Amino acid sequence: MKKIVLATGNKNKIKEYQNLFSSLEYEFISSEDIGLSLDAVIEDGLNFKQNALIKARAIASQVSYPVIADDSGITINALYGFPGIFSHRFMEDYSYREKNSAIMHMLENCSNRRASFHCAIALVYANKEFVFEGVARGEITHREFGIDGFGYDPIFFSYQLNKTFAEASLNEKNTFSHRAKASKKLFEFLKKNKDII
Ligand code: IMP
Repeated sequence: MKKIVLATGNKNKIKEYQNLFSSLEYEFISSEDIGLSLDAVIEDGLNFKQNALIKARAIASQVSYPVIADDSGITINALYGFPGIFSHRFMEDYSYREKNSAIMHMLENCSNRRASFHCAIALVYANKEFVFEGVARGEITHREFGIDGFGYDPIFFSYQLNKTFAEASLNEKNTFSHRAKASKKLFEFLKKNKDII
């Protein structure tokens, strides 16, 4: 089976990709499983696309397999796109309950609550680079709704799902999420280019 290295140490992401791409006969292996760490990689890109490429390039320079890396986060219109690429690093030592409550506090008295989740997936192979992007649009709620999902899911009301990501089933989220949309584009690309990648 052909191998693709996923630039992450996150076992959930490996499972998610393996599952999403099961019909394509690729084995996804984590960069950590082959002894390559992303710890020293400085994610100093200005957007999700640049950060995904930075991570993919860092691993691709050390292996001969195709490499995939992703970067994602939430942007809030009234906060000029914040937390954006800082979604993970924002209040890093605090729980998501506290992070979510801080975001709602920042939007107090704010009528424009529009926000979007973004995902960029970079594929680097044989000195070629491709990026696939997905966006999910919605609004920040006034309190948390739902218990599923993770991170900012309980305060993100998805326009397409008509509920928060934390109220959606995994199946629903995996159909309409930013990650699902970017993954679908990568899926089509791999399917089309399966003889060369
Ligand atoms: P990363 O791309 O895995 O580094 O994720 C960046 C950060 O964005 C995560 O730690 C979460 O804070 C946030 N994030 C990305 N995708 C989602 C999602 O689907 N739901 C909730 N939060 C997310």
